[in-house]
Amino acid sequence: MNEKIKKILNKKIKSKIICLTAYSKNVAEQVDKYADITLVGDSLGSVLYNYKSTRSVSLTEMINHSKSVRLAVKKSLMVVDMPYNTYNSNNSALKNAKKIIKDTKCDAVKLEGGKKIIKQIQFLVKNKINVMGHLGLLPQTAKGKFKSKGKTNKEKKQLSNDAILLEKSGVFAIVLECIKPSVAKQITQQLKIPTIGIGSSVHCDGQVLVTDDLIGLNDTNIRFVKKFVNIKKYLNLGLRKFASEVKSKKYPQKKHSY
Ligand code: KIV
Repeated sequence: MNEKIKKILNKKIKSKIICLTAYSKNVAEQVDKYADITLVGDSLGSVLYNYKSTRSVSLTEMINHSKSVRLAVKKSLMVVDMPYNTYNSNNSALKNAKKIIKDTKCDAVKLEGGKKIIKQIQFLVKNKINVMGHLGLLPQTAKGKFKSKGKTNKEKKQLSNDAILLEKSGVFAIVLECIKPSVAKQITQQLKIPTIGIGSSVHCDGQVLVTDDLIGLNDTNIRFVKKFVNIKKYLNLGLRKFASEVKSKKYPQKKHSY
């Protein structure tokens, strides 16, 4: 087993797992200092390209961003989202996962869904691909307004069954997105593998957020996002100073010229 995955599995209960997104080298370099898992999420579709949904993200976009991220990720486990429509059958899932891994040298891939895609997940695991699961709100297939999951008994049962099925199929961790706290807690307790929550309460074994959201670079009013710093303030400060010094001819000085 991959040593980084072993370390993550060992963290269950003992200490919280940190997962953060990165879409490029410079952000990944900082993320890698704090994260156990660096995720190249297909959220890059909405964050960077203003796509209405992650369904528009292509394999090429994911690979290109992941190549940049790979340049800086040294310590953490690098996981890449498989985009929508790239794992519809066992063969397409394996072909595309192999391409992602070959081109980006990532450690694992993430797929959204439970029972509906279990054959593909089992096929990937059988072919020695490290897979991370994703349950609850599934942005790739969600219809209409995003809603929390686990409110009805039927949903609770389905989520719990899906989580058990994913674990049995060999995924090493599961992202739980927008799942009611009591359900996320129950799933976390029933699994040996860790759960990584996003909008799913403190009961999960770890937490993930989109880095651009938590640093205030991407404006969002999603309930689960906490803005830990307003990076735009610092960005503006630097840009304003540059513009002002160019106008006043304070910059460039002799030492900045050849
Ligand atoms: O696409 C993404 O960034 C994700 C995380 C938010 C879990 O899937």
